[in-house]
Amino acid sequence: MKAIVLEKCCKAEDLKVSEIPVPQVRPGWVLVKVYAAGLNHSEVLLRMFEADNDYINTPIVPGIECVGEVADPSDSGLATGDRVIALMGGMGRSFNGSYAEYALLPSRNVFKVDSALDWLSLAAIPETYYTAYGSQKECLLLRANDTLLVRGATSTVGQAAIQLAKAIGATVIAAARRESSFEKLKAIGADHCIIDDGCISDGGLPVRPNKVLELIGPKTLRDSLLTVSRPGYVCSTGVLGNVFTVQQFDPIKYIPNGVFLTGFFSNFPTQEAIDGIFSLIAKAHIKPLYSKVFSLDEIVEAHTLLEKGGAGGKIILKI
Ligand SMILES: NC(=O)c1ccc[n+]([C@@H]2O[C@H](COP(=O)([O-])OP(=O)(O)OC[C@H]3O[C@@H](n4cnc5c(N)ncnc54)[C@H](OP(=O)(O)O)[C@@H]3O)[C@@H](O)[C@H]2O)c1
Repeated sequence: MKAIVLEKCCKAEDLKVSEIPVPQVRPGWVLVKVYAAGLNHSEVLLRMFEADNDYINTPIVPGIECVGEVADPSDSGLATGDRVIALMGGMGRSFNGSYAEYALLPSRNVFKVDSALDWLSLAAIPETYYTAYGSQKECLLLRANDTLLVRGATSTVGQAAIQLAKAIGATVIAAARRESSFEKLKAIGADHCIIDDGCISDGGLPVRPNKVLELIGPKTLRDSLLTVSRPGYVCSTGVLGNVFTVQQFDPIKYIPNGVFLTGFFSNFPTQEAIDGIFSLIAKAHIKPLYSKVFSLDEIVEAHTLLEKGGAGGKIILKI
């Protein structure tokens, strides 16, 4: 089969298509025929910085998510031909991932979906919509009468969060760096759009949120904690601000009284969560968003764009 194999850290232009054997199925694992795979920034970090570390099982086929059909269900309870999505759990890092025609994946990370969406739309969903959904459902306990502020709203996860929060019935404030993004954010459902200058708590909000999805991360986290009404919830999910930790964290002084701080990690998807996402997508007629599509042969162009940024949404490998 065709696959992209990473031997060590390299530049985007060093990526190439190789021929490797179709993996042999074994108990606890499912063989998936991959139709498309969403790309993620973490795969750029893997290629540029992480692949030389011991915790990455090189040579490795990258790719932390995919959509496709079950080619061999093994003992999973799935059936040959089932439409599935798969994500995380070490995919593309501890074991071979989705930049390939077939992927052998742990049964617990492969989820059956009952959806008539085309493969590309389906490929926009796994990691992005699960991250947005999990942050809202599990961490922010988002309800219809909530007002949610999404910081980093133009990111792929941010846009999915806006769509899903509107499907739940919440009011959504989208915060972005540029006013030119407002039209796009309103088109996908944002009720209000604001410029994020890092100091939203200073005032000027059209309405005060009681919940914040923090995708900029530690850089603006304290400001988000000061922005929510009380009781209020803040979920730290992203690190777009490129600050990864809170220095000298003193929880007593850092987290205001009556504000609940939580974080989301997408490593533990469940069938229940995946069903929840597809039910909201169907109920609200959500169109999963993606920007650019590349073939496996165009991996250099795909990774160059992923590294450079500016795609404006999910990049998908069509396999
Ligand atoms: N916790 C988890 O398990 C988990 C899972 C998936 C993703 N994530 C994280 O969630 C974040 C979003 O991921 P993604 O894949 O959706 O990202 P993405 O689509 O690559 O987002 C990139 C866009 O975000 C906007 N942006 C970048 N830096 C910004 C900043 N400092 N302030 C405001 N906007 C900024 C830019 O849009 P404009 O140029 O239009 O401003 C940029 O084009 C990332 O930090 C990612 O690591 C976390």
